[in-house]
Amino acid sequence: MTFITFEGIEGSGKTTQIRLLMDWFKARDIRALLTREPGGTSIGEQVRAILLNPINTEMTPEAEILLFSAARAQIVREIIRPRLADGWIVVCDRFADSTLAYQGYGHGLPMDDLMRITEFATGGLWPDLTVYLDLDVETGLRRKAATPEEWNRMEAKEVAFHKRVRQGYQALAAQAPGRWLVVDAAQPVAAIQEQIRARVKKEIRK
Ligand code: TYD
Repeated sequence: MTFITFEGIEGSGKTTQIRLLMDWFKARDIRALLTREPGGTSIGEQVRAILLNPINTEMTPEAEILLFSAARAQIVREIIRPRLADGWIVVCDRFADSTLAYQGYGHGLPMDDLMRITEFATGGLWPDLTVYLDLDVETGLRRKAATPEEWNRMEAKEVAFHKRVRQGYQALAAQAPGRWLVVDAAQPVAAIQEQIRARVKKEIRK
């Protein structure tokens, strides 16, 4: 019945925090399903493989957004809506806000087009709660890069792109403060999880 999404830039610690939250649901016998975007369905995973394959360098931002949206259209109808209707909590690692932040703020595609495509893909479904792990870009990318050499190889362009994505998330959160929980992801893991659980508790009591 409650749809929760997690958002953040690369290296913000989404995966760790999601895993801890799922453990918490499990310990309380709360029926919760974890899924991810792009992917989460057989069709979605096939689309994900196209999207994330480094060989596809010629992919245009327009094609990219339609592929992300195709995967989303499938997961909403095949998984998310049916589970919510059965009374489950659905947790999704990234959702529509990733499109607005990455394709909109990051790549600069027109927001009104993105909103129309996204509304069509989701059939108007938006999360009840979006947990956003906010972290500065350098720290995030450094966490992702295993070695300093790897970090050094990252182009300045990439840093600038992720900075726009972060600003995008911050702007989106400011536009709908009721739906977003913004957490400072530079805090220790346990402190972050505590804030997430406190908010989720409130959300599932509704
Ligand atoms: P993934 O390996 O799942 O990254 P992460 O562990 O950070 O979630 O790759 C997903 C990538 O796709 C990530 O860079 C964000 C991007 N993305 C978009 O650009 N638009 C979208 O709509 C979605 C869902 C993801």
